[in-house]
Amino acid sequence: MIAFEKYTNQDNTATVYYGDCLTALRDLQDGSVDLIFADPPYNIGKKFGEFKDVWPSDEEYADWCYTWLALCIKKIKPTGSLYIMASTQAMPYLDLWLRDRMTILSRIVWHYDSSGIQAKKYFGSLYEPILFCIKNSNIYTFNANDIEVEAKTGAVRKLIDYRKEIPALYKAKKIPGNTWYIPRVRYRMKEYEEHPSQKPEKLLERIIKASTNANDLVLDPFGGTFTTCAVAQRLGRKSIGIELQLDYVKIGLRRLGIATKFKGEELRALDKTYVRKNGNGIHGDVINEKQMRLFDVTI
Ligand SMILES: C[S@@+](CC[C@H](N)C(=O)[O-])C[C@H]1O[C@@H](n2cnc3c(N)ncnc32)[C@H](O)[C@@H]1O
Repeated sequence: MIAFEKYTNQDNTATVYYGDCLTALRDLQDGSVDLIFADPPYNIGKKFGEFKDVWPSDEEYADWCYTWLALCIKKIKPTGSLYIMASTQAMPYLDLWLRDRMTILSRIVWHYDSSGIQAKKYFGSLYEPILFCIKNSNIYTFNANDIEVEAKTGAVRKLIDYRKEIPALYKAKKIPGNTWYIPRVRYRMKEYEEHPSQKPEKLLERIIKASTNANDLVLDPFGGTFTTCAVAQRLGRKSIGIELQLDYVKIGLRRLGIATKFKGEELRALDKTYVRKNGNGIHGDVINEKQMRLFDVTI
C-alpha cells in the first residue's frame, strides 16, 4: 500500500499530499517551513467524508495532537511560526503542552456573527481559539505594516490625542488586537467549497501576511479545502497541504491549479448559480452592508 500520494504544480510552488499527516509530515525536510497553520479535526463529531471526528476520550485526542504537533515543530525553521486552531474545550490541553516547547505570543479569538444552530438553554459558541507560537522570540517574522486595520477610535472623529508631547491626530490605522471578527464561510460566498469546516480566506490572509514574506514556505497538515495553500499562492508564497480525504484533495488540486483532471475525472468548481423566488439569478458574496461595517476586515 502507498502511504501517500504527492502532487506538485509545474513551478514547484504548491504541493498537495493525499494521505495521513502523521505519515506525510515525515516526508518533509526538518527545519524547512516558515509557517504552519494547523486546523485539525476538533473531536466534536463532525463528518469529514469517511472520517468521523470522534476520539474515545479527551486524553486520547490530546495524545494524537501531541504526536503531529511534535512532528510539525521539527519541520519549522528556527525563525518560523505555528498557528493552531482547536475547540474551546481542547485548547487548554494544547496550550499547556505547547508553552513548554514554543513561545506562545498571542491567544487569538476568532469570532463571528452566527453559529448556524442557535443555542436556547445556554450561551451559544460564537468563537474559536487560535494560538500564535514561535520558536525564537529574538528572530521571527511579524509584518505589522501589512496587516493594519482601520482604527475605529478617535481617528474617525478626527480627535486630537493630547496625551502626546506634541498633540496630534489619532492614528487612522492600527495592528489588530487578538479578537478577530471575520465572517464564516457561507454557501453564497464566492470562496465556498463543499466542506463542513472551511476557514475564511480573510483569516488566512492576515496570518500569512503577518508571519511570512514572499517565497516563504507555508505548510497546512489538515488541508481541508486547501484555503491556506490557495491564499499562500495568491500572496506569492510556496505551500504544502496534506489531506486524508480524496474529495477534499481534489478540491485542493483544482483550487491550486495543479490539475484539471484526476484519474480521468474532470475537476469542476461547485455550480452555485441559483434563482431567487423573484426570478433573479445571483452568484457570489452576499453580506449586507450594515453587517460588513462591523467586521474587522474588508470583505
Ligand atoms: C477542520 S478541517 C480543515 C479545514 C481547512 N482549514 C479549510 O479551510 O478548508 C480538518 C481536515 O483534516 C482532515 N484530516 C483528518 N485527519 C487527518 C489526518 N490524519 N491527516 C490529514 N488530514 C486529516 C479532514 O478530512 C478535514 O478535511
